[in-house]
Amino acid sequence: MLAIIGGSGLTRLSSLEIERREVVRTPYGEPSGTLAYGRIGHQQVVFLARHGHGHTIPPHRVNYRANLWALVKSAGADGIVSVASVGGMRDDLKPGALVVPHQIIDYTWGRLATFFDGGDAPVVHVDFTEPYDRALRERLLCASDAAGLKVSGAAVYAATQGPRLESAAEIERLVRDGADIVGMTGMPEAVLARELKTPYAAVCVVANWAAGRGDSASSIRFEQIEAVLHESMGKVRSVIEHLCTATV
Ligand code: HPA
Repeated sequence: MLAIIGGSGLTRLSSLEIERREVVRTPYGEPSGTLAYGRIGHQQVVFLARHGHGHTIPPHRVNYRANLWALVKSAGADGIVSVASVGGMRDDLKPGALVVPHQIIDYTWGRLATFFDGGDAPVVHVDFTEPYDRALRERLLCASDAAGLKVSGAAVYAATQGPRLESAAEIERLVRDGADIVGMTGMPEAVLARELKTPYAAVCVVANWAAGRGDSASSIRFEQIEAVLHESMGKVRSVIEHLCTATV
């Protein structure tokens, strides 16, 4: 079972014929919405909209633990593809570009970021050297090739707290730190998947130039973001279709 977490611009998957929906409760509370089950090709898929069906849950209020628990423990997902929109900071990552990041820097704070939260359970430190699953990233890149799409396969994702966008000076700092793209939901999602020992990778759509860069030099234009997301999510759907129909 492959899980897909849809972000801004991807609240449903048109190629997924939904066979059933399930309301799930977890020891960590309620996930962002119902789990939608179906198949793409021969692949069983479970889909969850990260921000809820009506896009009402902001990044810092997403119940990441419930989402991951529901997908892995209730639905039985053995792989998770996250779809997320990001700001671009590297010259080749302009609006519309697709990226499969390979590293993360976490700038979020105050989020419930672990299943190993003390109490009676022994302390657990997971390895996070490679935050994304290498094999799943490769499969995503092969699927992109098969779909005839150019996708950048190496980028450092900076996870910021949001919901506000960053200042130009903050973006300069992220660039100095070595980040290439910036988004608000990459963490703790990635580490929670790791804690559940479930392969996790992301396909990111560059929705805008990050603050102070490219044509966002003085401000970020939201009308533009919507148009970019609308077009690029078509490409993401195609990557996912190829991922699901590929013979491995
Ligand atoms: N910053 C943070 N998150 C984002 C951005 C951005 O510029 N664009 C889309 N998600």
